[in-house]
Amino acid sequence: MSVRPLCCDPHPTLRAKAHRVASFTDALGALARDLVDTMYANDGIGLAAPQVGEGVAVFVANPSQERGREIVVVNPSMETTGGRAVIVEGCLSVPNVWARVRRAAHVRLRGQDTSGRPVELTADGLLAIVLQHEYDHLQGRLFIDRLSWLKRLQIRLRRLRLRSRPGERCT
Ligand code: NI
Repeated sequence: MSVRPLCCDPHPTLRAKAHRVASFTDALGALARDLVDTMYANDGIGLAAPQVGEGVAVFVANPSQERGREIVVVNPSMETTGGRAVIVEGCLSVPNVWARVRRAAHVRLRGQDTSGRPVELTADGLLAIVLQHEYDHLQGRLFIDRLSWLKRLQIRLRRLRLRSRPGERCT
């Protein structure tokens, strides 16, 4: 178990569609544990494998931040099942940026655990938002892609100004 370095936008792995996991090996379990450790080390509530440079369809989530309540999903498919929710999001791979994002309020997610057993969950509230955010990572999509062009432009200008700022934990 270890805390891995984070990839940040514009890292190419963040922009590629993650590959499906075909073999449920010990290495997959180790990756999931590393994702959990890395999420906690950075005070995150979700983390997807591409964020640590691994282009495979795995993410972890835990909006409660309570140890032992992590959700680990491999090869997810997601269905939005209604409602609208707008909350301020951030992302460990997009440092110093927060913005209101509009998403579905309810989702159903199907996938597998790290042993290949089927997992299904329905979610609303913050968990539904986190699942959609992490699922987006596996499609090569970041939350900033869901903003208006004007907002994206403002963010780009702000990030240019902050580029040399120390303390970013990105590789
Ligand atoms: Ni993110």
